[in-house]
Amino acid sequence: MLERNIKLDGSVILVTGAAGFIGANLSKRLLNDFPDCKVIGIDSITDYYDISLKHERLNELKGYGERFTFIHDTIADRETVTHIFDEYKPAVVVNLAAQAGVRYSITNPDAYIESNIIGFYNILEACRHSYDNGQKGVGHLVYASSSSVYGSNKKMPYSTDDRVDNPISLYAATKKSNELLAHAYSKLYNIPSTGLRFFTVYGPCGRPDMAYFGFTDKLVKGEKIRIFNYGNCKRDFTYIDDIVEGVVRVMQHAPERRNGEDGLPLPPYKVYNIGNSSPENLLDFVTILQEELVRAGVLPEDYDFESHKELVPMQPGDVPITYADTTPLEQDFGFKPSTPLRTGLRNFAEWYSEHNNK
Ligand SMILES: NC(=O)c1ccc[n+]([C@@H]2O[C@H](COP(=O)([O-])OP(=O)(O)OC[C@H]3O[C@@H](n4cnc5c(N)ncnc54)[C@H](O)[C@@H]3O)[C@@H](O)[C@H]2O)c1
Repeated sequence: MLERNIKLDGSVILVTGAAGFIGANLSKRLLNDFPDCKVIGIDSITDYYDISLKHERLNELKGYGERFTFIHDTIADRETVTHIFDEYKPAVVVNLAAQAGVRYSITNPDAYIESNIIGFYNILEACRHSYDNGQKGVGHLVYASSSSVYGSNKKMPYSTDDRVDNPISLYAATKKSNELLAHAYSKLYNIPSTGLRFFTVYGPCGRPDMAYFGFTDKLVKGEKIRIFNYGNCKRDFTYIDDIVEGVVRVMQHAPERRNGEDGLPLPPYKVYNIGNSSPENLLDFVTILQEELVRAGVLPEDYDFESHKELVPMQPGDVPITYADTTPLEQDFGFKPSTPLRTGLRNFAEWYSEHNNK
C-alpha cells in the first residue's frame, strides 16, 4: 500500500464538473469527511442532459455554506481558469468536467474539443503556473479518463499495461489525449498527476444518457427497450460510492517527484482503472433493475416486461465483454469496488421514485 502524502483536511480542493454526477458526489463526500477542507466547484451546466438534475445536485451542495464555492463558468476559458487558480490556490485539483458520451461525439464534435482538450489544457497550464515564484502550487492533479480508451481491445480484462492507441470514438480520443498531455506536463513541469479510467458508473441522480437510466425512462413511458447481442454482453457496472471512495483514496497519494539516472525529473505520473472487475451479464442487470423498479413502486407489480423488451443482435463495433483489471488500484490503495448490483440498483430505483413524485 502507498503512504498518504497529501492532506485533504484544511486544503482547498478544486473540483471541475462539480454539478455533474461524479463531481457532485465527490464534492459532498469531501465536505462530509474532511471538515476543514474547502471545495471550489466549477461547472458550465451544459444541456447535454436535463439540467434540473445538475441543479438538484448543486442545491444539496449549497447546504455546506461557505465551505463550498460554486463558479458557473467553463474551463475552456483560459482567463477564468487562471483567475480561479490565482484566487483560491488549490492544493489538489480533480478534473471531471468533460463532454461525456460516445454517440453524441458523432453529431457534436466541437463540444469534445472545447471541454476535453482545450479545457484540460487550461487546467494543465494553470497547474504549471501554480509553482511560479516559488509557490507550493498544486500537489496533485487527478483527472477522469475512461474505459473507452480501450477501444476494441480484445484482451480481457482491460489492463493499464495494454496498448491503447486505437480509439474508436472522438470521446475516447480526447480521453487518451488527456493522458498524453498529462504525461508531457508531468515530465516537463513536475506536476504529480493521476488519471483514472472509470468503467460505467451508475447510481441515484446519475446520468439520463446511460443505459440503466434510459431503460427506466422507457419502461415508465411504456416504450420498448432494446437489449443488444440478445443480452449476452458482460459489462463492469461501478456504483457511484465505490468510484468516489476510489477517487478520495487516490487523491491522498500523489505520485512522487523523483529524478532519473540522468538527473532529470521522472514524470510523477500514474493511470489506474476503477471498475468493478466482475462483469455482469446485461440480461441479469435488466432483470435486477426491473425487480427493483417494481419494489420501489416505479413500475406496477403486474408490469408486462416481456412485451417491453426487444432482444436484438450486436451493434457494429460493440464488444461482448468488457471489464477492468483493478489489481494496481487494490495493491496501491487497498481498495476494490464491492457494492452489489442489487444494492446499487435499489438505491437508484428508490431515488427515481422519490424524484418523480416530487
Ligand atoms: N459516468 C461514467 O460512467 C463515466 C465513465 C468514464 C468516464 N467518465 C468521465 O468522468 C467525468 C465525470 O463524468 P460524469 O458521469 O459525472 O458526467 P457529467 O456529464 O454528469 O459531469 C460532467 C460535468 O462537466 C460539466 N462540463 C462539461 N464541459 C464543461 C466545461 N467546459 N467547463 C466546465 N464544466 C463543464 C457538465 O456540465 C457536467 O455537469 C467525465 O470526465 C467523464 O468523461 C464518466
